[in-house]
Amino acid sequence: MLLEAALDDIRPRTSGAPAGYIPELADADPDRLALAVVGPRGRVITAGDDHVEFTIQSMSKPFVLALALQTMGRDSVFGRVGAEPSGEPFNAISLEPGTGRPANPMVNAGAIATTALIAGEDIDQRTARVIEMMSAFAGRSLWVDEAVYRSKSATGDRNRALAHLLKSYGHIAGRVDDVVESYFRQCSVLVTVRDLAVMAATLAFGGRNPVTGDRVVDERVARDVTSIMASCGMYDFSGEWLLRVGLPAKSGVSGGVLAVAPSQFGVAAFSPRLDEHGNSVRASAVVEMLSERFGMHLL
Ligand code: DON
Repeated sequence: MLLEAALDDIRPRTSGAPAGYIPELADADPDRLALAVVGPRGRVITAGDDHVEFTIQSMSKPFVLALALQTMGRDSVFGRVGAEPSGEPFNAISLEPGTGRPANPMVNAGAIATTALIAGEDIDQRTARVIEMMSAFAGRSLWVDEAVYRSKSATGDRNRALAHLLKSYGHIAGRVDDVVESYFRQCSVLVTVRDLAVMAATLAFGGRNPVTGDRVVDERVARDVTSIMASCGMYDFSGEWLLRVGLPAKSGVSGGVLAVAPSQFGVAAFSPRLDEHGNSVRASAVVEMLSERFGMHLL
């Protein structure tokens, strides 16, 4: 099959290593490899380790942005968080001099500021809203991997520091700890490559999930999120990614990459070994190969 063949071509590439800074991720089987594509009628095609669950990590960021945009509107959200690529790693400080506004919602600082915009009395309420939105994008009920969450929280001092900086600039209204723990929980939601491809497809088809048929967010919200992914989704590799692959995308340190081919496909790949940008080596390579073979480059 076509997708199996694509994985076979990519399998020999064994450079990179699973994320080391979160103990639960460092233990991931580095040889896992999976790919999924979802088309306009909701047909899902998968290959490789498509049953393996892993945590969504930074791939949660576009969907929390979608929730913020859907509930608060574009002006409120982009008044708080910028829309410019930072050219810096995902965990850099990346705050605008003077205002302390984070560069964009895809780097950690901007993602934490975005999570702070989600209404909720406490961690559980905010997390419930976020998970409800992610589940609607995926077309099934998702949940948090508690072990990864505890591991992230125990080693999350850099994100805590970013959140305190945001608070000092007035970009976090509530309690810093509530916001950071909500962020850790959103990153610890378990998904498969299939879930990610359905989520990407929901963005590709203007906010309507092609598998369930449900409208998840407005078309304008889906377009805004996809635009931010195009400019900022692959961190300080976003420019080269757009050049080579030509698709809005988002990576996560668990080894997933999801990509949006507007009106055509949602694509996702998974392989835990990461490059120096925190992007999966083989997941990126296989999405690039598909884009090339199917002529998906948008430009
Ligand atoms: O903030 C963190 O450290 C993680 N929750 C997510 C970072 C991440 O996935 C970066 N992506 N490549």
